[in-house]
Amino acid sequence: MRTIRTVAELRTHLRSSRRAGRTVGLVPTMGALHDGHLALIAAAREAADEVVVSLFVNPTQFNDAGDLDAYPRTEADDAVAAADAGAHVLFAPPVAEVYPDGFASEVRVGGPLTERLEGAHRGAGHFHGVTTVVTKLLNMVGPDVAVFGAKDAQQVLVVRRLVRDLDVPVRIEVVPTVREPDGLARSSRNVRLRPEDRAVAVAIPRALDAASSLLADGERDAAAVRAAAERVLDDAGLRPEYVALADPATLAEREGALPVGPSLLAVAVPVGPVRLIDNVELVVA
Ligand code: PAJ
Repeated sequence: MRTIRTVAELRTHLRSSRRAGRTVGLVPTMGALHDGHLALIAAAREAADEVVVSLFVNPTQFNDAGDLDAYPRTEADDAVAAADAGAHVLFAPPVAEVYPDGFASEVRVGGPLTERLEGAHRGAGHFHGVTTVVTKLLNMVGPDVAVFGAKDAQQVLVVRRLVRDLDVPVRIEVVPTVREPDGLARSSRNVRLRPEDRAVAVAIPRALDAASSLLADGERDAAAVRAAAERVLDDAGLRPEYVALADPATLAEREGALPVGPSLLAVAVPVGPVRLIDNVELVVA
């Protein structure tokens, strides 16, 4: 595996891959790679001949400077993990390569997809940062396929809309959320949980499970299903920023009886110094 730091070198490398007839897969990450990222790399290997993993802690998507500073940076370990998982290129550009002096452009997806849930709590600017950097990474790499995680369900919706609206010639693939043995979703931020935080964080997947179980028992009322998740978090002493049960296409909040088909149950929960998000798809047959 090669580590590449400039767009020029990346393009030279990929030009020869393309000439050899190899398809290209991109896995965008902010590093501190864990099993969730590795599942994305494995999926990219299945879907393409040549796998590029990007590692860039994107400053424009952080609404909180403290969170940006505290974000774990473990590039040497990431390079080993990405190589072991079968990546061919680790693209790890410095900030000035992505945002050169005088950078003044932005790619925005407007409307409810970026205004609801994470947009409402972190600010829509978070997603404008994501869509700007994802557009840039897609333009830098020109992949046939780009792989994202269901852990960030709203990000997937926003990226799919971006690709559709702007006719970006790439296929988006989504990999299910990878979890710890006790159910906690893997996240680069988990390393910042103190032992006492880690112990209560398990209430997050349990809250999602409680809602799923209630649905499986026949409950159809959106408020009751949402309340089941809220109760588990409350019992653990957690105060969620939101517990949303929404239409997975528009993120409009469900009211009354859940319709046949999927709904998205999504939560954002501060646990000690860390803000965790998780979600599950609930399906009414
Ligand atoms: P990051 O948080 O590093 O996540 C990179 C990719 O890994 C995202 O697609 C995310 O959904 C996926 N991922 C994270 N945890 C996962 C888990 N437990 N199971 C499955 N997939 C998981 O998301 C970002 O970076 C950034 O916003 C980025 C897209 C790179 C743009 O800067």
